[in-house]
Amino acid sequence: MSAPPVTVLTATPEEEAAIRQAVRTADPALISPGARVAGPEHIAGLVELLSDETVSGPIYDIPRPIDAGRIGAWVARSRRLREAGEALLTVTLDQNGKVAAYSRFTVWPERSSAELAGAQRADRQNSGHGTEGAARSFGFMFEVLGVRLVGLTAATDNIRSARVIEAAGFTPMGERLSRLPDGGSRPSLYWEMTREDWLTSRRLFNVGDNDKT
Ligand SMILES: CC(C)(COP(=O)(O)OP(=O)(O)OC[C@H]1O[C@@H](n2cnc3c(N)ncnc32)[C@H](O)[C@@H]1OP(=O)(O)O)[C@@H](O)C(=O)NCCC(=O)NCCS
Repeated sequence: MSAPPVTVLTATPEEEAAIRQAVRTADPALISPGARVAGPEHIAGLVELLSDETVSGPIYDIPRPIDAGRIGAWVARSRRLREAGEALLTVTLDQNGKVAAYSRFTVWPERSSAELAGAQRADRQNSGHGTEGAARSFGFMFEVLGVRLVGLTAATDNIRSARVIEAAGFTPMGERLSRLPDGGSRPSLYWEMTREDWLTSRRLFNVGDNDKT
Protein backbone atom coordinates (compact mmCIF):
# COMPACT_ATOMS: atom_id res chain seq x y z
CA MET A 1 0.00 0.00 0.00
CA SER A 2 1.48 3.32 -1.03
CA ALA A 3 2.44 5.47 1.93
CA PRO A 4 2.82 9.25 1.97
CA PRO A 5 6.19 10.80 2.86
CA VAL A 6 7.34 10.93 6.47
CA THR A 7 7.69 14.74 6.23
CA VAL A 8 4.27 16.38 6.34
CA LEU A 9 3.65 19.43 4.14
CA THR A 10 0.36 21.28 3.90
CA ALA A 11 -0.70 22.57 0.48
CA THR A 12 -2.76 25.72 0.07
CA PRO A 13 -6.19 25.09 -1.52
CA GLU A 14 -4.91 26.67 -4.76
CA GLU A 15 -1.79 24.50 -4.82
CA GLU A 16 -3.83 21.37 -4.09
CA ALA A 17 -6.26 22.19 -6.92
CA ALA A 18 -3.39 22.84 -9.36
CA ILE A 19 -1.76 19.49 -8.52
CA ARG A 20 -5.05 17.61 -8.94
CA GLN A 21 -5.57 19.26 -12.32
CA ALA A 22 -1.99 18.45 -13.39
CA VAL A 23 -2.44 14.78 -12.47
CA ARG A 24 -5.68 14.64 -14.52
CA THR A 25 -4.16 16.23 -17.60
CA ALA A 26 -0.37 15.62 -17.63
CA ASP A 27 0.93 13.82 -20.70
CA PRO A 28 3.10 10.79 -19.76
CA ALA A 29 4.80 11.05 -23.18
CA LEU A 30 6.81 13.86 -21.58
CA ILE A 31 8.63 11.17 -19.60
CA SER A 32 9.27 8.92 -22.56
CA PRO A 33 7.79 8.92 -26.08
CA GLY A 34 6.19 5.45 -25.70
CA ALA A 35 4.53 6.22 -22.35
CA ARG A 36 0.77 6.58 -21.98
CA VAL A 37 -1.97 6.31 -19.36
CA ALA A 38 -2.71 2.62 -18.69
CA GLY A 39 -6.13 1.44 -19.84
CA PRO A 40 -8.07 -1.83 -20.15
CA GLU A 41 -6.19 -2.59 -23.39
CA HIS A 42 -2.95 -2.87 -21.39
CA ILE A 43 -4.13 -5.36 -18.74
CA ALA A 44 -2.81 -8.48 -20.51
CA GLY A 45 0.53 -6.76 -21.19
CA LEU A 46 0.83 -5.63 -17.58
CA VAL A 47 0.07 -9.15 -16.34
CA GLU A 48 2.81 -10.52 -18.60
CA LEU A 49 5.28 -7.82 -17.52
CA LEU A 50 4.58 -8.13 -13.80
CA SER A 51 4.45 -11.93 -13.74
CA ASP A 52 8.24 -11.83 -14.10
CA GLU A 53 9.68 -11.76 -10.56
CA THR A 54 12.77 -9.91 -11.80
CA VAL A 55 10.38 -7.09 -12.71
CA SER A 56 7.80 -7.06 -9.91
CA GLY A 57 9.71 -8.79 -7.10
CA PRO A 58 11.24 -5.60 -5.65
CA ILE A 59 7.96 -3.66 -5.70
CA TYR A 60 5.75 -3.66 -2.61
CA ASP A 61 2.53 -1.99 -3.75
CA ILE A 62 1.43 -4.21 -6.65
CA PRO A 63 -1.72 -6.31 -6.12
CA ARG A 64 -0.80 -9.96 -5.63
CA PRO A 65 -1.13 -12.66 -6.79
CA ILE A 66 -0.76 -11.10 -10.22
CA ASP A 67 -3.65 -12.03 -12.48
CA ALA A 68 -5.94 -10.32 -14.98
CA GLY A 69 -8.68 -9.73 -12.40
CA ARG A 70 -6.46 -8.00 -9.85
CA ILE A 71 -4.44 -6.06 -12.42
CA GLY A 72 -7.67 -5.05 -14.20
CA ALA A 73 -9.08 -3.73 -10.91
CA TRP A 74 -5.78 -1.89 -10.24
CA VAL A 75 -5.90 -0.25 -13.69
CA ALA A 76 -9.55 0.77 -13.14
CA ARG A 77 -8.81 2.09 -9.62
CA SER A 78 -5.82 4.02 -10.94
CA ARG A 79 -7.99 5.63 -13.63
CA ARG A 80 -10.56 6.69 -11.02
CA LEU A 81 -7.76 8.08 -8.84
CA ARG A 82 -6.35 9.95 -11.85
CA GLU A 83 -9.73 11.66 -12.25
CA ALA A 84 -9.50 12.63 -8.58
CA GLY A 85 -5.94 13.89 -9.16
CA GLU A 86 -4.40 11.31 -6.84
CA ALA A 87 -2.62 8.72 -9.00
CA LEU A 88 -1.31 8.05 -12.47
CA LEU A 89 -0.56 4.58 -13.82
CA THR A 90 1.41 4.65 -17.06
CA VAL A 91 2.75 1.99 -19.39
CA THR A 92 5.53 2.29 -21.93
CA LEU A 93 5.11 0.32 -25.13
CA ASP A 94 8.01 -1.03 -27.17
CA GLN A 95 8.26 -0.85 -30.96
CA ASN A 96 6.04 -3.95 -31.21
CA GLY A 97 3.33 -2.38 -29.07
CA LYS A 98 4.10 -4.61 -26.07
CA VAL A 99 4.14 -3.28 -22.51
CA ALA A 100 7.84 -2.90 -21.70
CA ALA A 101 7.66 -0.80 -18.53
CA TYR A 102 5.21 0.75 -16.10
CA SER A 103 5.18 3.62 -13.61
CA ARG A 104 2.70 4.28 -10.81
CA PHE A 105 2.69 7.80 -9.41
CA THR A 106 0.77 8.17 -6.15
CA VAL A 107 -0.01 11.76 -5.25
CA TRP A 108 -1.22 13.41 -2.04
CA PRO A 109 -2.26 16.84 -3.41
CA GLU A 110 -3.29 18.12 0.04
CA ARG A 111 0.29 17.45 1.17
CA SER A 112 1.92 18.55 -2.10
CA SER A 113 3.65 15.17 -2.10
CA ALA A 114 4.10 12.14 -4.32
CA GLU A 115 5.66 8.70 -4.52
CA LEU A 116 6.76 6.63 -7.50
CA ALA A 117 7.09 2.91 -8.20
CA GLY A 118 8.00 1.38 -11.52
CA ALA A 119 9.90 -1.25 -13.43
CA GLN A 120 11.41 -2.07 -16.77
CA ARG A 121 11.01 -5.43 -18.54
CA ALA A 122 13.94 -7.78 -17.83
CA ASP A 123 15.53 -7.28 -21.26
CA ARG A 124 15.61 -3.52 -20.61
CA GLN A 125 17.16 -3.73 -17.15
CA ASN A 126 20.88 -3.17 -16.57
CA SER A 127 20.65 -0.72 -19.45
CA GLY A 128 23.03 1.80 -17.95
CA HIS A 129 20.22 4.34 -18.52
CA GLY A 130 18.34 3.75 -15.25
CA THR A 131 19.56 7.00 -13.71
CA GLU A 132 18.62 9.08 -16.73
CA GLY A 133 15.17 7.42 -17.07
CA ALA A 134 14.37 7.83 -13.38
CA ALA A 135 15.43 11.48 -13.49
CA ARG A 136 12.79 12.15 -16.15
CA SER A 137 10.13 10.64 -13.85
CA PHE A 138 11.37 12.69 -10.89
CA GLY A 139 11.33 15.84 -13.05
CA PHE A 140 7.79 14.98 -14.14
CA MET A 141 6.64 14.86 -10.50
CA PHE A 142 8.33 18.10 -9.42
CA GLU A 143 7.98 20.16 -12.57
CA VAL A 144 4.84 18.86 -14.31
CA LEU A 145 2.66 17.51 -11.48
CA GLY A 146 4.06 20.34 -9.37
CA VAL A 147 4.50 18.62 -5.98
CA ARG A 148 6.95 20.08 -3.45
CA LEU A 149 8.04 16.77 -1.92
CA VAL A 150 8.75 13.26 -3.19
CA GLY A 151 9.32 10.26 -0.92
CA LEU A 152 10.75 7.03 -2.35
CA THR A 153 11.27 3.54 -0.99
CA ALA A 154 13.27 0.57 -2.20
CA ALA A 155 13.82 -2.93 -0.88
CA THR A 156 16.92 -2.96 1.31
CA ASP A 157 18.82 -5.14 -1.22
CA ASN A 158 17.78 -3.12 -4.31
CA ILE A 159 21.21 -1.71 -5.16
CA ARG A 160 20.23 -0.40 -8.61
CA SER A 161 17.28 1.59 -7.25
CA ALA A 162 19.38 3.03 -4.44
CA ARG A 163 22.02 4.13 -6.98
CA VAL A 164 19.45 5.71 -9.24
CA ILE A 165 17.69 7.51 -6.37
CA GLU A 166 20.87 8.85 -4.77
CA ALA A 167 22.29 9.90 -8.16
CA ALA A 168 19.24 12.18 -8.47
CA GLY A 169 20.12 13.83 -5.15
CA PHE A 170 17.51 12.32 -2.81
CA THR A 171 18.41 12.35 0.89
CA PRO A 172 18.58 8.95 2.62
CA MET A 173 16.31 8.92 5.67
CA GLY A 174 16.94 5.42 7.01
CA GLU A 175 14.40 2.63 6.87
CA ARG A 176 10.64 2.49 7.11
CA LEU A 177 8.16 -0.39 7.13
CA SER A 178 6.17 -0.68 3.91
CA ARG A 179 2.71 -2.17 4.30
CA LEU A 180 2.01 -4.95 1.77
CA PRO A 181 -1.38 -5.47 0.07
CA ASP A 182 -1.71 -8.86 1.84
CA GLY A 183 -1.51 -7.18 5.26
CA GLY A 184 2.16 -8.03 5.91
CA SER A 185 5.04 -5.57 5.91
CA ARG A 186 8.52 -5.19 4.45
CA PRO A 187 11.45 -3.06 5.61
CA SER A 188 12.37 -0.50 2.95
CA LEU A 189 15.11 2.05 2.50
CA TYR A 190 13.56 5.50 2.41
CA TRP A 191 14.54 8.80 0.75
CA GLU A 192 13.02 12.25 0.33
CA MET A 193 13.68 15.25 -1.86
CA THR A 194 12.11 18.70 -2.06
CA ARG A 195 11.26 20.51 -5.27
CA GLU A 196 13.52 23.36 -4.22
CA ASP A 197 16.49 21.00 -4.08
CA TRP A 198 15.47 19.41 -7.37
CA LEU A 199 15.19 22.74 -9.17
CA THR A 200 18.48 23.91 -7.72
CA SER A 201 20.26 20.87 -9.09
CA ARG A 202 18.45 20.45 -12.43
CA ARG A 203 15.39 21.32 -14.44
CA LEU A 204 14.12 18.99 -17.17
CA PHE A 205 10.80 20.44 -18.23
CA ASN A 206 9.92 24.03 -18.98
CA VAL A 207 6.42 24.15 -17.59
CA GLY A 208 5.96 27.68 -16.37
CA ASP A 209 4.39 28.21 -13.00
CA ASN A 210 5.45 25.24 -10.95
CA ASP A 211 8.46 26.91 -9.35
CA LYS A 212 6.54 29.80 -7.89
CA THR A 213 5.53 28.42 -4.51
C1 LIG B 1 15.45 -0.16 -11.10
C2 LIG B 1 15.58 -0.11 -12.62
C3 LIG B 1 14.50 0.81 -13.21
C4 LIG B 1 16.98 0.47 -12.96
O1 LIG B 1 17.16 0.52 -14.36
P1 LIG B 1 18.44 -0.23 -15.01
O2 LIG B 1 18.49 0.08 -16.46
O3 LIG B 1 18.38 -1.68 -14.62
O4 LIG B 1 19.61 0.50 -14.23
P2 LIG B 1 21.15 0.73 -14.65
O5 LIG B 1 21.69 -0.40 -15.45
O6 LIG B 1 21.24 2.09 -15.26
O7 LIG B 1 21.83 0.71 -13.22
C5 LIG B 1 21.52 1.69 -12.25
C6 LIG B 1 22.77 1.99 -11.44
O8 LIG B 1 23.05 0.87 -10.60
C7 LIG B 1 24.40 0.45 -10.80
N1 LIG B 1 24.47 -0.98 -10.57
C8 LIG B 1 23.87 -1.96 -11.26
N2 LIG B 1 24.15 -3.16 -10.71
C9 LIG B 1 24.95 -2.91 -9.64
C10 LIG B 1 25.56 -3.73 -8.65
N3 LIG B 1 25.40 -5.05 -8.65
N4 LIG B 1 26.29 -3.12 -7.69
C11 LIG B 1 26.44 -1.78 -7.67
N5 LIG B 1 25.88 -0.95 -8.57
C12 LIG B 1 25.14 -1.52 -9.54
C13 LIG B 1 24.70 0.87 -12.23
O9 LIG B 1 26.09 1.00 -12.45
C14 LIG B 1 24.00 2.20 -12.30
O10 LIG B 1 24.73 3.20 -11.65
P3 LIG B 1 25.50 4.34 -12.51
O11 LIG B 1 24.45 4.99 -13.35
O12 LIG B 1 26.07 5.19 -11.44
O13 LIG B 1 26.52 3.58 -13.32
C15 LIG B 1 15.44 -1.52 -13.27
O14 LIG B 1 16.55 -2.32 -12.89
C16 LIG B 1 14.17 -2.26 -12.89
O15 LIG B 1 13.14 -2.07 -13.51
N6 LIG B 1 14.28 -3.16 -11.86
C17 LIG B 1 13.17 -4.01 -11.42
C18 LIG B 1 12.10 -3.24 -10.65
C19 LIG B 1 12.65 -2.32 -9.60
O16 LIG B 1 13.56 -2.62 -8.86
N7 LIG B 1 12.00 -1.15 -9.52
C20 LIG B 1 12.32 -0.13 -8.56
C21 LIG B 1 11.55 -0.34 -7.32
S1 LIG B 1 11.96 0.93 -6.12
